[in-house]
Amino acid sequence: MGLIHAKPRSGYYVAKQATAKVSEFTQPQIAAPSLIQVPDIFLDIMRLSAAFDIYPKAGIEIDNQSIQLLHRHINRAMRQHASKNALYYGDPTGDPALKKQIAQHYRARNVIIEPEDICITAGCQNSLFLALSSVCQTGDTIAIESPAFYGVLQLAQSLGLRVIEISASATQGMDTDILQSALEIWPIKACIVTSNFATPTGACMPAKAKQSLVDLAKEHDFTIIEDDIYGDLGFHVLPEPVKAIDRDEHTILCSSFSKSLSRDLRIGWVIGAKYHQQIIHHKLVHHLSSNQALQQGLASFIANGDFRRHLLQYRQQLKKQRDALIAAINQYWQFSFSYTVPDGGLAIWIKLDEPIDTVELYKRALKQDIVLTPGALFSTSQSYQNCLRLSFVHPIEGARKQALTMVNRLVFEMKKRAI
Ligand SMILES: Cc1ncc(COP(=O)(O)O)c(C=O)c1O
Repeated sequence: MGLIHAKPRSGYYVAKQATAKVSEFTQPQIAAPSLIQVPDIFLDIMRLSAAFDIYPKAGIEIDNQSIQLLHRHINRAMRQHASKNALYYGDPTGDPALKKQIAQHYRARNVIIEPEDICITAGCQNSLFLALSSVCQTGDTIAIESPAFYGVLQLAQSLGLRVIEISASATQGMDTDILQSALEIWPIKACIVTSNFATPTGACMPAKAKQSLVDLAKEHDFTIIEDDIYGDLGFHVLPEPVKAIDRDEHTILCSSFSKSLSRDLRIGWVIGAKYHQQIIHHKLVHHLSSNQALQQGLASFIANGDFRRHLLQYRQQLKKQRDALIAAINQYWQFSFSYTVPDGGLAIWIKLDEPIDTVELYKRALKQDIVLTPGALFSTSQSYQNCLRLSFVHPIEGARKQALTMVNRLVFEMKKRAI
């Protein structure tokens, strides 16, 4: 349970409790919208960090039963539809059976949509691209949460959008009062939020804040682009997305199976609301259509109840791994830090209390094959230089535990050098 920990040849100790010291997380001051330039080194960090693995060399030990089952469904679909799939492109909006399953899946979270409201994409990043490029023109201003998913910063740069960072609490997500102040000054075209289990903090916006966001969108006529990729990964509850409370089509919902099932599927979706037709047009121009056998296999996997069973098991596993990660950093890290304890998602957000530059720490760790995700990646402000995102996707044991002890050593070396 992480309440005590054992120190070899020393004894048992009460563990530092998993409490988030939110107020200590620095937030950027509100600044005028600007074009952004993500430094080149961040592309390498992003590529490595996307695996959410502190020590990729450790590999994977257990075979994932759900993935084996999924592949049986996909293989069956490949056999049954091989000739037809080979000679015809699928519907650009996606396989009807898969869209039906996704629509039904959302009912549990109070999102009432029809299969025809959905466009299947090549993953959530692609969904965000389709949504942003349908809503915005070059030079438009978007509001993002701070800290934000780095993929959004990349998209804003490549689409030539101006960005305004809105402070987000490490537990309650975007501060809608600050967003309101920004809306009174600048014309904001779209606001991108991950309202449930946001990366990197794991924050969830309370229902009241979600309602305020919808009210602001109505009043100021901007589009909410909601990234719901972690929405299915709540350990105790599955909070409603913003989309569930927006009755006026101001919200575009983007998501994928990448975090809940497999990154390798490259299948996501976008529920485009009033931008649905533009999104389909963009999808057609850029992709024509998506792989049919994968969609057919997925539809059958979900219809059979296998996705639901997988999620029930996976959420419990992730919760255990979150607790083990928190217990491990409390045991192995001898320096002072604070962290979030998210109730879902895949990662915790850590702030080192000393002014340690985590990009420098990342570089030093990489020499030992350890992959850290520095805070600087999640913002263009200088607010998170001493922060880290640490994932619990992989069980923290063996070589990954050793990687944590090595991080402790590296931090002490950096502290020594700074003296
Ligand atoms: C918040 C968030 N959105 C989108 C993505 C990209 O998802 P996909 O692999 O489905 O493109 C990620 C991946 O890390 C993410 O964390």
